[in-house]
Amino acid sequence: MSADDSKAHGGRGSGAKPPERVLSCGLLVAEHGMKTILVASSKGGVGKTTIATHLAAQSALEGRRTVLIDADPQGSSTRWCERRAVLDSAVLPLEGSSRHKSTLKAIPDDAQRVVIDAPAGSMSAHLDAYLEVADVVVVPVLPSTLDIEATVPFLDSLAKHPRVRRGQLRVGLVGNKLKPWTNASQQSLGLLKAWPYPVIAQLRDSQAYVMLVGLGKSLFDYQSAQVREHQADWQPLLKWSKR
Ligand SMILES: Nc1ncnc2c1ncn2[C@@H]1O[C@H](COP(=O)(O)OP(=O)(O)OP(=O)(O)O)[C@@H](O)[C@H]1O
Ligand SMILES: [Mg+2]
Repeated sequence: MSADDSKAHGGRGSGAKPPERVLSCGLLVAEHGMKTILVASSKGGVGKTTIATHLAAQSALEGRRTVLIDADPQGSSTRWCERRAVLDSAVLPLEGSSRHKSTLKAIPDDAQRVVIDAPAGSMSAHLDAYLEVADVVVVPVLPSTLDIEATVPFLDSLAKHPRVRRGQLRVGLVGNKLKPWTNASQQSLGLLKAWPYPVIAQLRDSQAYVMLVGLGKSLFDYQSAQVREHQADWQPLLKWSKR
């Protein structure tokens, strides 16, 4: 972490050292008393980075010291954090595409929320270290039969993870880029709701996401009536992830 990163993170002292926990993979991690949200799907282009950056922005805007682990070598989340570094609600980026365990050890002791943006192509075995520490996994799905079918192997691999089986790691689906007025979106939502995981948000297709994420911003940085309508789409997801 650089000095600038430390400023982006609020630059506050870390206080007393937190207790530690030994994971089943042998890694010793600090118990930060924080929520860790993994945004993941093996399918590319479904909205992982859009959702991860929005969750990080929302957390930082609520005053939490927030870390965004960019597990994707494409680096989109890292660039988003860099564009945001001048704001009071800056988010600390951590590069986490390889050496996942070292990345987790680099989380500052005073972090209050960690969001992990996973890369396309990862099945649960590739994300093991992150699955060991996450409290929830958010899986974005696009509203088409082909996209839903392509996500099934990833969800199956998650279902076999011991922490998911033991109920220690909750999995939620997010319908993304929905056009609620179309039959395709309604049919896809019907398919998603038939799965054993809850649909925790239905996010509309909107150019606002494309534009704002490119600027290092999120919908939560604005308060216009139109933006507030889109923010409402996120409420079930925010509530579910806080549980
Ligand atoms: N709700 C939405 N409405 C409109 N466009 C969206 C929405 N969500 C994401 N997008 C756009 O879709 C594209 C893919 O989104 P994003 O990069 O977040 O997906 P990803 O799953 O992270 O992709 P990758 O697998 O390449 O990492 C981007 O151009 C993004 O701006
Ligand atoms: Mg991405």
